[in-house]
Amino acid sequence: MPSLVTPALAPGSLARLTQPEIDGHGVRLRPWRRDDGPAVVAGYADPAIRRWHCRSMTLDEARSWIDTWPRRWRSETGAGWAVVDADNPGGVLGQISLRRLDLAEGLAEVSYWVLPAARGRRVAPSALTALARWSFTVLRLHRVELAHSTANPASCRVAERAGFAAEGTKRAEALHTDGWHDMHLHARLASDGTGGPVAPAAEGERPVPTR
Ligand SMILES: CC(C)(COP(=O)(O)OP(=O)(O)OC[C@H]1O[C@@H](n2cnc3c(N)ncnc32)[C@H](O)[C@@H]1OP(=O)(O)O)[C@@H](O)C(=O)NCCC(=O)NCCS
Repeated sequence: MPSLVTPALAPGSLARLTQPEIDGHGVRLRPWRRDDGPAVVAGYADPAIRRWHCRSMTLDEARSWIDTWPRRWRSETGAGWAVVDADNPGGVLGQISLRRLDLAEGLAEVSYWVLPAARGRRVAPSALTALARWSFTVLRLHRVELAHSTANPASCRVAERAGFAAEGTKRAEALHTDGWHDMHLHARLASDGTGGPVAPAAEGERPVPTR
């Protein structure tokens, strides 16, 4: 049954690109490497990351997880980056990814975590701001969403600081290990730029104009 709507992005819009490194305020997003496995294992050994991402991870599983990202890029179903320090890009600080990618709708959902030792330095807001800028200006997505449990205020601050406006609460949307959680929905549109309905950000971390 043919759609009457022209897709927001044509098939191939992601796969034709080489996955880039993306620079942000003090951080760099780079494609995962096979030897990042121990950092991924360390992430999923952290109680807060386990709580909110609901996974455990062995080293073999971490390597398999890393191996999925090039396939997901080619099949245009997702895109994942390791987040590293821009000035000292040796160690992994965290992860950020586009998941639930739907090119026809121009839509993706973001997921992120930061390793305990790197928290409190606004790594996540900087990575999210940089990924949003790339998603709107290079990939040309229309809308990027993120959802966090209403019991996770730190993630709410990350979203606000990166210009993702709160849009409401999805009741009992996500099943966690302790049961159903209400999820707070945030989104940023390509058209928001810096003039959209976004929360104020600190000097130097203001969302970058997208058009
Ligand atoms: C949430 C997370 C990604 C934040 O990463 P980060 O780079 O350390 O972010 P920061 O704490 O430096 O900055 C985020 C903001 O959250 C605030 N914050 C941190 N912990 C908080 C808490 N428990 N309650 C309320 N606000 C909190 C910080 O003060 C900061 O706000 P500000 O910019 O207004 O000062 C990180 O804590 C994490 O990985 N947590 C576990 C996994 C997770 O929650 N992932 C997201 C699932 S949706």
